[in-house]
Amino acid sequence: MTDKMIEAFDGTRKAGAIASGALDEVTKIVKPGIKTDEIDKLCFEFINDNKAYSAPLFYRGFPKSCCTSPNHTVCHGIPKDKILKEGDIVNVDVTALKNGWHGDTSRMYFVGEVSIKAKKLVKTTYEAMSKSIKILKNGIQVGDIGSVIQKHVESQGFSVVRDFCGHGTGKNFHQPPNILHYGEPKTGDEIKTGMIFTIEPMINEGNYETKVLNDGWTAVTKDKKLSAQFEHTIGITDKGYEIFTSSKKGLNFPPYKI
Ligand code: MF3
Ligand code: CO
Ligand code: CO
Repeated sequence: MTDKMIEAFDGTRKAGAIASGALDEVTKIVKPGIKTDEIDKLCFEFINDNKAYSAPLFYRGFPKSCCTSPNHTVCHGIPKDKILKEGDIVNVDVTALKNGWHGDTSRMYFVGEVSIKAKKLVKTTYEAMSKSIKILKNGIQVGDIGSVIQKHVESQGFSVVRDFCGHGTGKNFHQPPNILHYGEPKTGDEIKTGMIFTIEPMINEGNYETKVLNDGWTAVTKDKKLSAQFEHTIGITDKGYEIFTSSKKGLNFPPYKI
């Protein structure tokens, strides 16, 4: 690792810890009756209290500090007045910008008790992300990551969204390479020591097709079936990888024991 890489890792580690800390806090407030706007307020304040910026706020005109994507929303849901109800599942995606470095992460939350189908979708999504992280090392290719995710997801009868992908991150929120969550082994860009990027598979209960609503942001499943997503920011080291956005409290997937 060069000095420049170590500097980027140190910066991303700090930003990642703040983003992940915000998601830990969110576990305390997600319950039936809460508005997605309340999640946004908590994320804004937590990130602010940690002397960082919420990178989504005003990013390409995005109006809020985090994305809240319930049920058939695939990603980029805008927090609003909407009340979450018993049985909903919701993704919360936060990105902290600290000292010029980004940490980008998302998790799923259960609102009260959720269906067996929803639990299976969320579990499969988390497993797919985790399996793909475990193969990370210098010299693999982007297609190796995508194929691990796609294989696991399709073995469970679900589908991988094609319209959005993971991304390099660092001083820019989004930068090359694109990390596709489907594909063939031994294809695509090479993964190299020092790279920092996200893996953030969006997995659908039904078909993988999506559409963006008139607000210009909210992506939903075309068939209105459920969608789930988890996201980590990860760096490639000399020996393997480092996850920058793991929960310090072990609150990595629901149901969260708090
Ligand atoms: N956090 C999202 C990602 O994982 C990007 C959100 S951009 C926003 O890349 F503008 F919608 F916030
Ligand atoms: Co991302
Ligand atoms: Co994100």
